[in-house]
Order: sequence, then structure tokens, then C-alpha cells
Amino acid sequence: MNQVLFTLCVGALVSSIYAYSTYKAQPELARGVGNGNYNYSAVIHASLLFYEAQRSGKLPADKRIPWRGDSMLDDGKTVGKDLTGGYFDAGDLVKFGFPMAATMTILSWGLVDYEDAYQKAGELENMRNAIKWGTDYFLKCHTSDNEFYGQVGNGNEDHAVWGRPEDWPKTGKVRPAYKVTTAKGGTDLLGETSAALAAASIAFAKSDPTYSATLLTHAKSLYTFADKHRSTYTAEITDAANFYKSWSGFGDELAWAATWLLRATNDSQYKAEVDKHFNEFGKQLMGKSTQFGWDDKTAGVQVLLAEVTGDQKYKTLAQTFCDWVVNTAPKTPKGMVYLDQWGTLRHAGNVAFVCLQAAKVGVNPDAYRKFGEKQIGYILGDTGRSFVVGVGVNPPAHPHHRASSCPDEPKVCDYSAMSNPGPNPHVLTGAMVGGPDQNDAYVDKRDDYVHNEVAMDYNAGFQGALAALLHLQTI
Ligand SMILES: *[C@@H]1O[C@H](CO)[C@@H](O)[C@H](O)[C@H]1NC(C)=O
Ligand SMILES: *[C@@H]1O[C@H](CO)[C@@H](O)[C@H](O)[C@H]1NC(C)=O
Repeated sequence: MNQVLFTLCVGALVSSIYAYSTYKAQPELARGVGNGNYNYSAVIHASLLFYEAQRSGKLPADKRIPWRGDSMLDDGKTVGKDLTGGYFDAGDLVKFGFPMAATMTILSWGLVDYEDAYQKAGELENMRNAIKWGTDYFLKCHTSDNEFYGQVGNGNEDHAVWGRPEDWPKTGKVRPAYKVTTAKGGTDLLGETSAALAAASIAFAKSDPTYSATLLTHAKSLYTFADKHRSTYTAEITDAANFYKSWSGFGDELAWAATWLLRATNDSQYKAEVDKHFNEFGKQLMGKSTQFGWDDKTAGVQVLLAEVTGDQKYKTLAQTFCDWVVNTAPKTPKGMVYLDQWGTLRHAGNVAFVCLQAAKVGVNPDAYRKFGEKQIGYILGDTGRSFVVGVGVNPPAHPHHRASSCPDEPKVCDYSAMSNPGPNPHVLTGAMVGGPDQNDAYVDKRDDYVHNEVAMDYNAGFQGALAALLHLQTI
């Protein structure tokens, strides 16, 4: 038997044992996700289950997460509005609009560019539903042209309590809702939400033209509101400042929204808007960021403009960023790009995605694809373990996440569920954890929210990169 054949046979044996052993625990995951040979379709499937587990509000009859039920049905009552729906942010239960919108934009980008991959994975319908769960909520939050609800739930009050979303309100009081108005404005939040709705309008253009048109109308209105009333949103929604302050300012979100509107409409008016923002915020937008994610979209603007306009000027900016990411940015000994202490893998997934997008428009495709594949491989098991709950070899079992940590019995769920040394009683399938430190060290402990929390935005670029890689396997 030659070496290749031998390896194949052993590989098949190992993966069939592996598939059998995980089959009992997690039937939907027993699909050949093994070390070094990853089934991107199966991981996309799992990631979409994670998003489903984060749903707030009234759940549909065909829900797929048995341990999740209706929750937070009073959201918006304090202000006389229906603000139910949307997503819980992370391991907590707040609905933070800013990262939620960034997540929807990045997910939509992946769907718009790689619909074939979602089709191949058999996940197109689930993916559309995941985006619609977010965009339906944003439409509710946009209560009039110049009024937008950007948060439901108070950060500190929420974080002081550990329990199931279905058991709220714990304190007997309905949670607050916070909005931005023309009193100050909320350019970063509104710009990002405009981008999300414009991107989603492209994703739904063929499958649901009426919904797509509604999304685009709101995207345009939010853009005007964002641009005319310039302020960081945390000036009005002060509670968000402790959690999701826009450190990069709002020039990136204005340009990001204008670019998505340009792509959604082909209307040269939005190219003029892009140019206007590049004039005003040129230092930032023509510069090189050190991350891409819920706060700083600069690299996304550069790459998306390269994609939409084909202009060499933007390709050069995209290349400057991705060359730095691939060649110069710090890496751990085992190869994870290390961009921040918090949520290291989220950054790895995000830059993998944005540089796979740069590769798509012809900027250093071989190097960037290799990099993207390597980062995703690291997340899925190249170091001998998986960092995605319920997926692959030795996945995290103690994610910092309220709902999945609460056992069915006893009925009361509190901080004792957080400190319980056992694994989360419910498997939060598809959630990528924060991840290792700069030395690849990682401990699967529930109280370590720096390395072991999960979040909507963590899975966004990661899932987009999976779709990009699956697309490359398909063509
Ligand atoms: C990959 O996963 C999909 C389901 O997500 C499954 O249908 C397919 O058979 C798997 N492919 C392999 C090679 O295991
Ligand atoms: C914009 O132009 C592109 C490329 O020509 C085309 O594929 C797309 O359908 C157009 N979109 C709209 C909304 O006209």
C-alpha cells in the first residue's frame, strides 16, 4: 500500500469513528468535520444554528433550537413601540444595535458574493432567514425618518444577572429602550444600519423584490439622517459607551454606507457621496487600519470599493492592508494572526474574510487565499482542537453564554450555572469562542469572557470566509 493510499484509509477510518462518536451527541454535526479536512458546508450549517440560538422575540413554529423559546416580548413597551425580535449580542441578553448591524452587513456581503456556496451547502434559506431576523428588527427600530432605536436592555443591569432569556424580566421591570434623534444624532450607528439594510437589499433583490425595496428605502433614509446630524451615537445612547463605543469615529461608517448604497443602486449620486467622505476623512480612509470589525470598517470600505468600482486606487489601499495582515501583523507560534487581546479568533476570521474579498478582485489572490484558509484551519482544528462549539475535535464545552449554560432542571437559573464546572447543558452549536492568547494558550473556562465568550460579530467574518472558501472549492 503506498503512502497516499495508506493515509487515505487511515483518514477514512478515523473520520468514520469520529463521525460515529459525535453522531450520538450532535447528529447535525456528524458530517466529516475532521482535522485538516474541513467540511465548510457543515460549519456554515452550524454557524447558522448559532445565530438561531441568539434570536430574541417570538420564535417561529419551525425553530431548530429546542432549548430556546419566546423571550423579551415586552421589548419596546416602555416607549410604546414593538421592539421585539433581533438578536442577543453575545453571552448576555442586551440587543446592542451597533455590532448587530455590523454583523448583518458582513453576513450580507458573504451572501451577495457567494450565493452559490450557500446553495451548495443547502443553507440558502437558513441564511436568508438569519439576515431577515436582523433586518426585520432594524425596520421596527426605525420608527420615523429621524428616530432610530439603537439598543434594548441596559448593559450593567443585564450583566448583573445570569439566566435564561425566557425567564426575563428577572427584576419585574421591563427593560429600557434607547434611541437616537436629531437632538444629537448617531452617525456611526445609523451609517452601519444603513449599510446593513443596503447590503441586505441586494441579497433579497431577486428572491423578494418587495422586501428588498423596503430595505433600500430605509437604508437611504438612515443614510440621510446619519449624514445630516453628525454625532457619535453614544452621545445619546450613553449606556452603549461602556460596551460598544465607536473608537474609530464615524467617517468609516459614512463611507461604508455610501458604498453599499452605490452597490445597491448604481446611482452615481452615491459615488459622489463616497468621494465627499474620502475628502473629509481621507487620513483615515486612505490609511491602513489594524483591524476590521464592528468598530473599524475602513478596510471593508477599501476592499468593497475595489470590488464595486474596479478602481486601482482602492485596490492599492486594499493591498496595503492585506499585505500588512499577511506579512507583518503579529502571529502566534502556531500561526493565528494576533490583532487584539479580546476575541482573537474574531479578528482572524474578519481579516481572513476581508482579504479573501481582496483576492476576489484580483489583489494577490494566491497569498490571501492561502492566508484565509490557514486562519480558518486554525479555528477548525489545525492545532489539534476546534474553537467552534459542537464542531470538530475537542471543541469548547464551556462557552460564556447564559442561555446554553442553564440546565432544564432546576427551573431557577442564576450565577450558579455560570460557576458550574461541568459543560454547558445545551450545546451552543456553531458558536466560535473568543480564542487563544498570543502564545496559542487557551483554557475552556466559562468565566473567562475574554477568551471564551461568543458573540454575533465573532461569527460574522468567520462565516463569510467559510462561504468564500466553499465557493473556491466549487468553481
Ligand atoms: C459535508 O456536510 C454536508 C452537510 O452540511 C453533507 O451533506 C456532506 O455530505 C458533507 N460532505 C462530506 C464530504 O462529508
Ligand atoms: C448595477 O450594475 C451591476 C453591474 O453592471 C449589475 O450587475 C447590477 O444588477 C446593477 N444593479 C442595479 C440595482 O441596477
